[in-house]
Amino acid sequence: MSQAEHGTDRDAPERAHTDFGRRLSYGDYLRLDTLLSAHQPITGAHDEHLFITVHHVSEVWLSLIIRELQAAMTLLAAGVTDEPLKMLTRVVRAQEQLTAAWGVLKTMTPADYLQFRGAFGEASGFQSAGYRMVEILLGNRNPVLLRPFEHRPDQHGPLHAALHAPSVYDLTLRLLAARGLPIPAEVLERDYTQPPVENPGVLDAWLTVYRDPERYWDLYELAEKLLDVEDNFRAWRFNHLTTVERTIGFKTGSGGTSGAGYLRRALNVVLFPELWQVRTSL
Ligand code: HEM
Repeated sequence: MSQAEHGTDRDAPERAHTDFGRRLSYGDYLRLDTLLSAHQPITGAHDEHLFITVHHVSEVWLSLIIRELQAAMTLLAAGVTDEPLKMLTRVVRAQEQLTAAWGVLKTMTPADYLQFRGAFGEASGFQSAGYRMVEILLGNRNPVLLRPFEHRPDQHGPLHAALHAPSVYDLTLRLLAARGLPIPAEVLERDYTQPPVENPGVLDAWLTVYRDPERYWDLYELAEKLLDVEDNFRAWRFNHLTTVERTIGFKTGSGGTSGAGYLRRALNVVLFPELWQVRTSL
């Protein structure tokens, strides 16, 4: 059958599979009943649907990001760089989707939001286990942030384990050391529960890579990919802050922080300090 004939044949919707009594259908495979049954607004407010949808979609992207980061980290720990680069590219694309979601949520005015705000009490993204896991894997470490999960050992356990394990950046620095670049011992054996501190020895190692990209091509690419991830992370945070300010102004957050003030301070977090500093030193 020629390509044209084949196309014509399949053009008719009557030819599509329709008998799913005993075969796996689209909805069955994706468990759409389960997925969509999680959408349970508490009030009759029109915009509560939007609010729940954007949170749900964001959590699904976060879970993909965690999966990709963890897979990339396992390979980096084994000294492999090509597959992790592909996985981190996927993380970067998923982050773009996360950030784009703010545009949809920003169509909600403060008055729309106030119609259902009372319904969710003290619930807040501050208690998002997915978001905390992404932060921890990327290296933003603060044991205090695990407290909201103490009542959920299934969430607290993996977060606690990740907090005590190397971040994607720690593993990258180990890789540099394995390639003969002098990474100080205090960095390689640092306390993982704390955030990274800019280190002159690490900066020197990155300077060597950035001054001779051809020689260290995969490390150079990895560094630029990590910078893409942090760049996107900042964009998400900034858009969150702007959305919060235009929705609740400077009220305290449902999670109990100062709200916009807390989120503004979080903009100062630096995940991969030497990768930003190396540009100044080049
Ligand atoms: C109009 C919508 C939103 C408002 C007014 C809002 C408000 C806030 C506020 C005030 C905080 C600070 C913590 C606290 O609650 O005291 C916060 C934290 C957070 N929110 Fe939202 N948020 C909104 C939408 C979202 C969405 C769609 C997500 C997606 C997952 C999200 C994820 C988070 C996360 C992860 C944090 C913790 C950030 C950190 O600790 O650095 N928020 N939010």
